[in-house]
Amino acid sequence: MQTDLKNSRTRMNLMRAFAGECQSRQRYYQAALLAQQQKLIGIERMFRFTAEQEERHAMVFWKLLQECAGETVEIEAGFPADVYEDIGQLLDASQREEEKEHIVVYPDFARIAEEEGFAQAASKFRAIAEIENEHSTRFAYYAGLYREGKLFRSDDAQQRWICLNCGHVHVGSEPPQECPVCSAEQGYFIREAEAAFTSCEIMKQ
Ligand SMILES: [Fe+2]
Ligand SMILES: [Fe+2]
Repeated sequence: MQTDLKNSRTRMNLMRAFAGECQSRQRYYQAALLAQQQKLIGIERMFRFTAEQEERHAMVFWKLLQECAGETVEIEAGFPADVYEDIGQLLDASQREEEKEHIVVYPDFARIAEEEGFAQAASKFRAIAEIENEHSTRFAYYAGLYREGKLFRSDDAQQRWICLNCGHVHVGSEPPQECPVCSAEQGYFIREAEAAFTSCEIMKQ
């Protein structure tokens, strides 16, 4: 067991993780811009929300690299060129990438960190792997809605939709083409349960 980060594999893995998280953040910002162009505002916000979390992950790994301040950490790594114009393909690619981080990459890094005696790094790799699983679930959910044409259509006639622009709630199987209150396009509507800080069940108890 070694505890000197300098000649460890964990040092490289921390830099790989940092590089990967920075790229995820950038990829999701770009995906958000594309969704915005296509007037899918709910998807845009979801990508931005996730991008901000990736930024925080990068900061967690960055902090653990403090011991290497001033050095150059050489790494060999592969990153996906997920350059798609199609939101469905982007959601699928993002989901696959998150799943890989959750199942393969971070558990591997955690195991190596543990073997090398870096308990803190191991626990951060594990904790962030769990978050990537949440991201994977989120992307899979929206990829499914997109593919099935259900972003703005529900089988439930009592579905509650919220306008992300003004907060207006519409009940029905589809949100209106245009918000009757603020005139925002249909792309601003998402299912109320998907929105943060809305008057969900827990607030009404
Ligand atoms: Fe992440
Ligand atoms: Fe993620």
